[in-house]
Amino acid sequence: MNEPRDSRNKEEEGELFFSSLYTPEQARRYFYKHQESFGRRLSDRVEKRMVRKALRLAGKPASVLDLPCGTGRFWPLLLERGERRVLAGDYSGGMLEIARRFQPPELQQKVQLLQTSAFRIALAPDAVDSILCIRLFHHIGERKDRLRILREFHRVTRDTVCLSLWLDDSRQGRRRRRLEQERAQGVRAYRRGYQDRFVQSPEVVEAEFEEAGFEILARVRMLPGWSIWSTYVLKKR
Ligand SMILES: C[S@@+](CC[C@H](N)C(=O)[O-])C[C@H]1O[C@@H](n2cnc3c(N)ncnc32)[C@H](O)[C@@H]1O
Repeated sequence: MNEPRDSRNKEEEGELFFSSLYTPEQARRYFYKHQESFGRRLSDRVEKRMVRKALRLAGKPASVLDLPCGTGRFWPLLLERGERRVLAGDYSGGMLEIARRFQPPELQQKVQLLQTSAFRIALAPDAVDSILCIRLFHHIGERKDRLRILREFHRVTRDTVCLSLWLDDSRQGRRRRRLEQERAQGVRAYRRGYQDRFVQSPEVVEAEFEEAGFEILARVRMLPGWSIWSTYVLKKR
């Protein structure tokens, strides 16, 4: 793991320090992570069920930007609709490199890759029908950063955004909230010495979605009542 560094200058360029933590070795590990045990495979399946449902509620968009795409975990799902145009972006060159090396060539031929930041997406306004944003927002602790990304999504999507994050109104979410409080009070230590994941309250993020110009079409819970993960389906106003 790289040492976290002061992110102030990089933040001005639109990067959070966690964004540069994915070295090629970590990217390779990430590729295997969701398949490495029965529990992970099960949660990968349930997560994909949540994402499928969100895309259905978003109106089965004909073009989707998968951002961040990581190592391409959602490409087979996105290409279940054969005629769909799929663009995939990530800030990390390491992640994209592993996606290029490990995903089957027949999938890669159908996906247009771009190395870009969610803060400043290298695409024109209204470039895609929808943006799929899975497992990014739980890394974004600051309201101003979430709003910057949401406004950028508002510029680039023509219609919808499907965005997953951690919420505190489930069993896992409440547990996480308690843990965060204990860490803030110094009762417990951070796993990596700093906080890199954040749980939010639905009221807080829902107000931010509205502020950035989105209407909330739906919230899909990964495992209602239990899981910390939810995916919002947002529609551009
Ligand atoms: C936990 S992974 C999720 C990847 C994929 N969505 C998945 O669920 O398999 C988080 C990803 O966010 C990417 N990332 C971090 N900061 C970013 C930024 N500012 N813009 C775009 N991608 C970013 C990382 O490189 C990493 O691939």
